[in-house]
Amino acid sequence: MRENANQLDGRVVIITGASSGLGAQVARAIGEAGGTPVLAARRAERLAALTEEIPNAATIICDVTDGSDRERLVDHVADRYGRLDGLINNAGAGATAPALRTTAETFARVLDLNLVAPYALSVLAAQRMRHGGGRSIVNIASVMGLRSIGPIPDAAYVASKAGMIGLTRELASQWGRYGIRVNAVAPGFFATEMNPGLGEDPEQFPEFLLSRTPLGRGGRAGELNDAVLFLLGPGSSFITGTVLSVDGGMAIA
Ligand SMILES: NC(=O)c1ccc[n+]([C@@H]2O[C@H](COP(=O)([O-])OP(=O)(O)OC[C@H]3O[C@@H](n4cnc5c(N)ncnc54)[C@H](OP(=O)(O)O)[C@@H]3O)[C@@H](O)[C@H]2O)c1
Repeated sequence: MRENANQLDGRVVIITGASSGLGAQVARAIGEAGGTPVLAARRAERLAALTEEIPNAATIICDVTDGSDRERLVDHVADRYGRLDGLINNAGAGATAPALRTTAETFARVLDLNLVAPYALSVLAAQRMRHGGGRSIVNIASVMGLRSIGPIPDAAYVASKAGMIGLTRELASQWGRYGIRVNAVAPGFFATEMNPGLGEDPEQFPEFLLSRTPLGRGGRAGELNDAVLFLLGPGSSFITGTVLSVDGGMAIA
């Protein structure tokens, strides 16, 4: 009988930035798919509330830009479960402003969170995964890593997400021999705390976004989940180094 492509029975998956937005939605979906999501972020109360909703979840308070926090996160998972099957590099932020008004310090801070931390965490995770058999890393990039959107100037964010897509390709190339798959998803626009100006209703997002989106709307809550579950799970066992756009067609418009 064919295995359900998105089923994650017993798989232990770290998800960074699980305290809100897309990360929290994906964490719930991992729990529903039978996986064990390990929720990582800085806001303890948020993670505690989410753990109430997902009975098989674990929580680690951590700042992914802190090297010792990253080690503590991966060590804890290895000690507690004796395995690590998946990592979702989801924590991220932007610094929207024209480049002429963005300092190098701001640029570096965004790169540290959106690119350096996912790289370092992927290396720590892969060291554990190598001993556990073939596993999957999913990087949450962005449509803005694939194209610029004039009314949202953000050189640091765009550079970090484009870098994440390159990193995905390179790590997939290096780690295929260990049975570790590395893929990215590139979401379009979703209503989260990152995007307070969009409003709640994805059908009513600002015209400059809708006019650039062939499907004519933003992403609905939960609409990213299946893409991430697919790249984590058995249905994508022969897929590595790819970028899956979940953006209503924005990347090609
Ligand atoms: N929403 C969109 O339209 C959209 C589109 C494309 C891509 N994305 C990407 O999707 C990912 C999630 O974004 P979102 O929209 O869900 O935004 P969000 O609601 O603002 O979530 C961002 C998450 O990152 C965590 N985080 C930030 N800095 C952190 C740090 N130093 N250490 C640990 N966790 C940290 C935050 O948790 P704490 O504050 O609790 O630490 C929060 O849970 C991001 O990578 C974003 O670039 C979003």
